[in-house]
Amino acid sequence: MVSQAPQDTREEVIQAWYMDDSDEDQRLPHHKEPKEFVSLEQLDELGVLSWRLDADNYETDEELKKIREARGYTYTDFCEVCPAKLPNYDEKIKHFFEEHLHTDEEIRYCVAGSGYFDVRDRDDKWIRIWVKKGAMIVLPAGSYHRFTLDSDNYIKAMRLFVGDPVWTPHNRPNDDLAARKEYVAKFLDRGTSNQAVDAAA
Ligand code: LAC
Ligand code: NI
Repeated sequence: MVSQAPQDTREEVIQAWYMDDSDEDQRLPHHKEPKEFVSLEQLDELGVLSWRLDADNYETDEELKKIREARGYTYTDFCEVCPAKLPNYDEKIKHFFEEHLHTDEEIRYCVAGSGYFDVRDRDDKWIRIWVKKGAMIVLPAGSYHRFTLDSDNYIKAMRLFVGDPVWTPHNRPNDDLAARKEYVAKFLDRGTSNQAVDAAA
């Protein structure tokens, strides 16, 4: 028997797909018909990093400790998104779903519940990233994104940061920010310059 390559266990807690264009409830999956999944490798090409960690033991998890040390994540706190735990719940939920960017990475580790982080691909199409318990993701500085709960209506996320946290969202459009320009240059411009080369050929 041919032994199979080990499955990437991240896929058990992180899934991504292209979204449909419907205006229905933001908490629904919004799959296209037929479904169009996006691989973790494709996310990687957009600068979106991910890990699968042991959410029951985050206090003592050596793997989390290593990631924090390697990436300089000195700050952590928890954000629980549900009406009883999040002050100004309705307003926050609305703001989370407005397309925005930050001048720093957005680092979230889902330790309970689940939710959707939506990011843009190189053609500005929405990709929905479903994170469940044990999923840690990094959305790069300067990348447009938004967040919503799914229909289970609950997430508890560890928020990490390098140094003193800055949570300020800059709503789209905000293309003149240095962080946006750097993101575009690093992750999106390659396609444009290749097209320019192709066009000139
Ligand atoms: C944030 C998420 C909701 O900015 O994008 O906290
Ligand atoms: Ni954000």
